[in-house]
Amino acid sequence: MSVRVGILGGSGYTGGELLRLLVAHPGAEVAWVSSRGRAGWPVTSVHPNLRSFTDLAFINPDDAEPCDVLFLCLPHGAAAGEIERYAALAHRVIDLSADFRLRDAAAYERTYGAAHPNPAWLDRFVYGLPEVSRKALRNARLASGVGCNATAVNLALLPLARAGLIERVVADLKVGSSEAGAEPSASGHHPERAGAVRTFAPTTHRHEAEIRQALGDAFALHFTATAVEMVRGVLATCHVFTTRELTDRDVWGLYRDAYENEPFVRIVKERRGLYRFPEPKIVAGTNFADVGFECQPGTNRVVALCAIDNLGKGAAGSAVQSMNLMCNLDETAALRTPGLHPV
Ligand SMILES: NC(=O)c1ccc[n+]([C@@H]2O[C@H](COP(=O)([O-])OP(=O)(O)OC[C@H]3O[C@@H](n4cnc5c(N)ncnc54)[C@H](OP(=O)(O)O)[C@@H]3O)[C@@H](O)[C@H]2O)c1
Repeated sequence: MSVRVGILGGSGYTGGELLRLLVAHPGAEVAWVSSRGRAGWPVTSVHPNLRSFTDLAFINPDDAEPCDVLFLCLPHGAAAGEIERYAALAHRVIDLSADFRLRDAAAYERTYGAAHPNPAWLDRFVYGLPEVSRKALRNARLASGVGCNATAVNLALLPLARAGLIERVVADLKVGSSEAGAEPSASGHHPERAGAVRTFAPTTHRHEAEIRQALGDAFALHFTATAVEMVRGVLATCHVFTTRELTDRDVWGLYRDAYENEPFVRIVKERRGLYRFPEPKIVAGTNFADVGFECQPGTNRVVALCAIDNLGKGAAGSAVQSMNLMCNLDETAALRTPGLHPV
């Protein structure tokens, strides 16, 4: 029997990506999708790529019915205040926003500048990155989503952080425009966004708290984010200053040990070809995280890279992977598809 899914906030970008994955899921069926502004409109009027895959029309969120798994794809803060109501709708809830990603209420307040409206719920949620919390997700009723930039940094650094080899990291992120969601804004207006190479977070970013939660605080972390000419995609270029000099062979061993059984992490470090290191366009539309690295001989510097699709591994892909684990389905169901090339 299929898992019946409801999606609140289905007219946005993460909601659309969830739908794209779930219409092809062999063990799940989308029961309803909500939009406040477009209730009654066909889903394909907003997500035209789904023509012939769904006849659903958006419903008003007030008409949401009980389902097996509820995905919340709402702007920051919208889930936190209403979580009792939403959790009553489904046995399992996956919230893609930042509202329940941090376990620690003080870290939430420092990061988001206001106290969490429902702090008692924070530690009921499992962080929805299977590479970090697979075991806990298998028994979870509530899971958060992931921050896209945090995910790229977390997966680039995880093997080195677990080995305790990091002293300091400068994480330089290049990000695509769909990170900002479907709601129009001045910075996303085409004449302003087209051709941009715009550093919008030179020294700090909210996702640092998620990186700390996943990797610990044994090392110094410096974060910079720059908007570039991409619709989908994040590239994290992490300049890692290690506690001792490492060779490529050392780092290969650590990455292989961490990722050889991971279905969606690929180590990309080639001698030949154009795409010798991770590149966002190669993972666009997929749940893959491509990670790679290069050590600088004679120094303690390793450049660790990770490319993801912010809407895939950085949002809806990880959320479906989490759902698969939570519902005891094949972890890779609906997710193992190659990307496009050329694109
Ligand atoms: N974009 C990314 O790359 C990305 C990556 C990771 C995580 N996230 C997180 O995922 C969440 C959704 O992001 P998004 O990019 O999909 O945003 P979005 O494109 O702006 O979509 C938000 C959706 O929520 C609906 N909505 C807004 N306020 C609502 C409310 N109070 N109650 C019910 N529905 C409401 C909107 O539709 P109507 O106005 O039609 O109701 C829309 O469908 C955000 O919290 C974001 O931080 C985004």
